Amino acid sequence: MLVFRKKEALRQHLQEHRLQNTTIGFVPTMGALHQGHLSLIRKSLELTGYTVCSIFVNPAQFNNPEDLKKYPRMPEQDIALLEAAGCHAVFLPEADEIYPTPPLVQFSFGPLEKVMEGYYRPGHFSGVALIVSKLLHIVQPHMAFFGQKDLQQCRILEQLVKDLGFNTEIQIEPTVREADGLALSSRNLRLSREGRQTALHLYVALQQAAEAVQAGIVPDVAQKNALAYLQNIPNLEPEYFYITEGGTLQELRNVQKGDQIAICTAAYVEGVRLIDNLLISYQGN
Ligand code: PAF
Repeated sequence: MLVFRKKEALRQHLQEHRLQNTTIGFVPTMGALHQGHLSLIRKSLELTGYTVCSIFVNPAQFNNPEDLKKYPRMPEQDIALLEAAGCHAVFLPEADEIYPTPPLVQFSFGPLEKVMEGYYRPGHFSGVALIVSKLLHIVQPHMAFFGQKDLQQCRILEQLVKDLGFNTEIQIEPTVREADGLALSSRNLRLSREGRQTALHLYVALQQAAEAVQAGIVPDVAQKNALAYLQNIPNLEPEYFYITEGGTLQELRNVQKGDQIAICTAAYVEGVRLIDNLLISYQGN
């Protein structure tokens, strides 16, 4: 596996592959890789001819400086995992390679970022859109792979690619979970054993809400019940629990059989902010 630290060297290398009509797959990450990331690498290897992963902890998307400082960094282990997975190249830039001057551009996604993560982490999606735009310009992939665990990020990036006309297809892959249901996240590394057990209630609440909606409980009521359930779990501080339309992430209205519904939550456990979601197809009438 090739390791690139400079964008120009990576760009030139990928150009050679492009000239040979090789399709390029891209998996942008912030490192501390786990099986969720590796499932994206595997999908890219399956669907494209050349897979590039990037590892960059993007300061522009952290609205909480403490979260940025504590974000796990383990580049050697990440490189070994990528190598073993068969990834072809990794891009590991320093901050000034990506931000030679402080960026001034800001992105705004209207209603899509006024809810959930966008509401509780102001500026977060502007930072995500900025880094992903920069990386897409450098890599110019045919396909870019993202995990459904960051569902709102996926919807934001679909909109970004559409609005700016990037020639890249966004591929969303299902959340990878531990056997007991806990969604894999680099942030889980910061949880104690007890914290991890507490965090499991997020998945329980999501599943209960999904069952309630499918059984005909009004989404508004199901969402309130789920929030109350989470509020009663010791050492868990839920931030939000929403049942929304799956594509726009806006309030559900006149839900019809077959409609996609997103059930999303965020909560703090031991000071670590965790998110999770389920996407379901409504089976009612
Ligand atoms: O999902 C992430 O890890 C990050 O938000 C991304 C897409 C790599 C941008 O920094």
